[in-house]
Amino acid sequence: MLKVGIVGMGHMGERHINSYKKIDDVEVGAVNDVRINELVNKFDLEGIKTYEKFDDLLNDKDIDFIDVCLPTFLHKEHTIKVLNAGKHVICEKPMAMNVEECDAMIEAQKKSGRFLMIAQCIRFWNEYEILKDYVSKNKFGRLLSLYLLRACQNPSWSWNNWLAQGSKSGGAILDLHVHDADMINYLLGMPKAVYSVGANAIKDGGIDILSTQYLYDKDMVVTVDCNWVIEGGFGFEMSYRAYFEGGTIIFSSKNNPSIMVYPKGENPFVPELGTKDAYEKELSYFANCIEKGREPEIVTPQSARDTIKMVTAELKSIKSKERVLV
Ligand SMILES: NC(=O)c1ccc[n+]([C@@H]2O[C@H](COP(=O)([O-])OP(=O)(O)OC[C@H]3O[C@@H](n4cnc5c(N)ncnc54)[C@H](O)[C@@H]3O)[C@@H](O)[C@H]2O)c1
Repeated sequence: MLKVGIVGMGHMGERHINSYKKIDDVEVGAVNDVRINELVNKFDLEGIKTYEKFDDLLNDKDIDFIDVCLPTFLHKEHTIKVLNAGKHVICEKPMAMNVEECDAMIEAQKKSGRFLMIAQCIRFWNEYEILKDYVSKNKFGRLLSLYLLRACQNPSWSWNNWLAQGSKSGGAILDLHVHDADMINYLLGMPKAVYSVGANAIKDGGIDILSTQYLYDKDMVVTVDCNWVIEGGFGFEMSYRAYFEGGTIIFSSKNNPSIMVYPKGENPFVPELGTKDAYEKELSYFANCIEKGREPEIVTPQSARDTIKMVTAELKSIKSKERVLV
């Protein structure tokens, strides 16, 4: 039985503690948060150690790996400390604030000989796994066009409002859009260049609304839109439309059924989806890698870092109003 320690018990810490309860071979051994005394009554923490200081979690010999669910501007520092302490790390997306921070994390990971995985949960999301399957197995032939959308209401729920501050979260382009940029990287590899337009929309924010074209050698139209500017109880939507020579797949988290496949010349159908959610799958995958002593392959540190490189090129393109090589 592996024991995990979670640092950061906000929105994602809560999701992860609930997911670990469904995983047989992992137990939450300890949690750490700067405001742990406020939070203890929110969770069922029976048998789980609680720490106010991160160093106490780091030095806990019962803990095999640490799950970093901290605000993005703290990812680099905490991940490197965990690796230097000789423990494995799963760290929330986005990997870090910029490519230099990602490189420092990769260097620490290599020196430590421990595993590092960035929790790019969309790589484990049932509807996106189907898309990956169609693309990588060439099931519908050539991909003509891929359109992804991610939209969310104005971010106002985070600890000390860090998420709404561009200097701490990187804005929607780094925090929210990174999921789809990462999916483009996972499905199609790194583009040659990007052309992005974007704007700031919230006070102290970053790029909060944007649209990017990813340019490849192949004739293929790849577009991603993202924003977190919707008001009035909209909540959240993620969606995609993938047009292949042999058919189309349409997904939206706001549709029911969420996904439909339209093969050319045949009846449309709802594909069979897995029953486990993406968070449970990603956490159990990482734990399994540790148990088997096998480097995580679904999300390598290098590929999570490449996604940040893509987002950086998009930021440059927005600023320069020009196409930017990746
Ligand atoms: N994968 C996903 O679907 C997904 C969804 C939302 C957020 N995220 C990511 O998860 C990370 C956390 O986001 P969140 O929404 O949970 O934020 P949050 O504001 O809800 O929670 C952050 C927590 O960290 C604690 N904290 C702050 N500084 C600390 C420190 N030095 N030591 C210990 N605890 C500290 C805060 O008290 C708070 O409880 C971010 O990187 C975010 O981008 C991922």
